[in-house]
Amino acid sequence: MKIKVRYYSRSGNTKALAEAIARGANVKAIAIDDDNAPINEKTDILFIGGALYAYGLDNKIKKYISELDANNIKKAIVFSTSWISKHSIDLLKKELSKKKIYVCEEYIYYKNKPNDNELKEAEKNVEKLLEKEI
Ligand SMILES: Cc1cc2nc3c(=O)[nH]c(=O)nc-3n(C[C@H](O)[C@H](O)[C@H](O)COP(=O)(O)O)c2cc1C
Repeated sequence: MKIKVRYYSRSGNTKALAEAIARGANVKAIAIDDDNAPINEKTDILFIGGALYAYGLDNKIKKYISELDANNIKKAIVFSTSWISKHSIDLLKKELSKKKIYVCEEYIYYKNKPNDNELKEAEKNVEKLLEKEI
């Protein structure tokens, strides 16, 4: 199964979560502004995450999603961190749906910077989730 993890993070909180998800999936977490961020091959699950800023997503992640090739992505699972609101989860799902990319109901969310236990939990949950997928 081909898994990708992509994220946008200003201060590292969502990056820490992306890296935990990537450990669970045994892949690398790649920032959306990295040269390797574009997805040019068939992907079974794209984990894609970004935080909430002033009740919105950063334009960079909106642009990244708008440029995804939906034909390459079977389904997406969103993840996010924020101070208080999970609105970023809905916004990420909305941007992906606009591209007609199938988005799973389930999502991964933590408040601000996830602590070590939360990161471990995220990693384990991704492992479990992927076991179900096989
Ligand atoms: C400029 C700015 C605006 C923010 N606005 C919100 C907000 O509207 N609601 C919220 O719950 N958190 C808000 N936050 C908190 C961030 O979503 C949170 O700290 C997040 O974990 C940051 O992730 P990052 O380190 O990956 O960028 C804001 C943070 C910043 C810096």
